[in-house]
Amino acid sequence: MSTPITELKIRTIGDPALRRNAREVKQITPRHKEILSKMARLMYERKGIGLAAPQLGINECLIIVDVGSGLYKLINPKIIKKEGCRVMEEGCLSVPDTYIKVKRAKKILIKAKDIDCNSITVEADELLACVIQHEIDHLKGKLIVDYASFLDKLKLLGKKSLINKKNARLSKPKI
Ligand code: NI
Repeated sequence: MSTPITELKIRTIGDPALRRNAREVKQITPRHKEILSKMARLMYERKGIGLAAPQLGINECLIIVDVGSGLYKLINPKIIKKEGCRVMEEGCLSVPDTYIKVKRAKKILIKAKDIDCNSITVEADELLACVIQHEIDHLKGKLIVDYASFLDKLKLLGKKSLINKKNARLSKPKI
């Protein structure tokens, strides 16, 4: 039995649901429409700008995005063209209190299905492109922490003291 839609909650890092490869949706059902609506409610409640179904423990290729220019509900989204690159500091509702610089394509072209099963393409750049790529990462079990530099990782582990010690060692002449 699947979890009732009313009980769906945003999973956080450490939950294995965030690390699976999401399944492609073969047939769009009323349940998918309900899930997408629930996702939108949760995203707005939490002041997010994007959400992917695996974040609710649903292992299917569904994402939503709203960067202020309207809500996109995308089923089976695929990037078919990428252009340029841009680094942006990203957060994630599933990785609380963490911001990591992520390098992504600046402009993308997406192929997906809408909730009425129409094939659509979406051209996105800047923030919209960044958020769509972030959500597509969720469908592959990838999180922002996977982009963390060595220094970011140390910070995440709360090992700032280690960095300080290393710097102290470097600044002292070897005798
Ligand atoms: Ni996220």
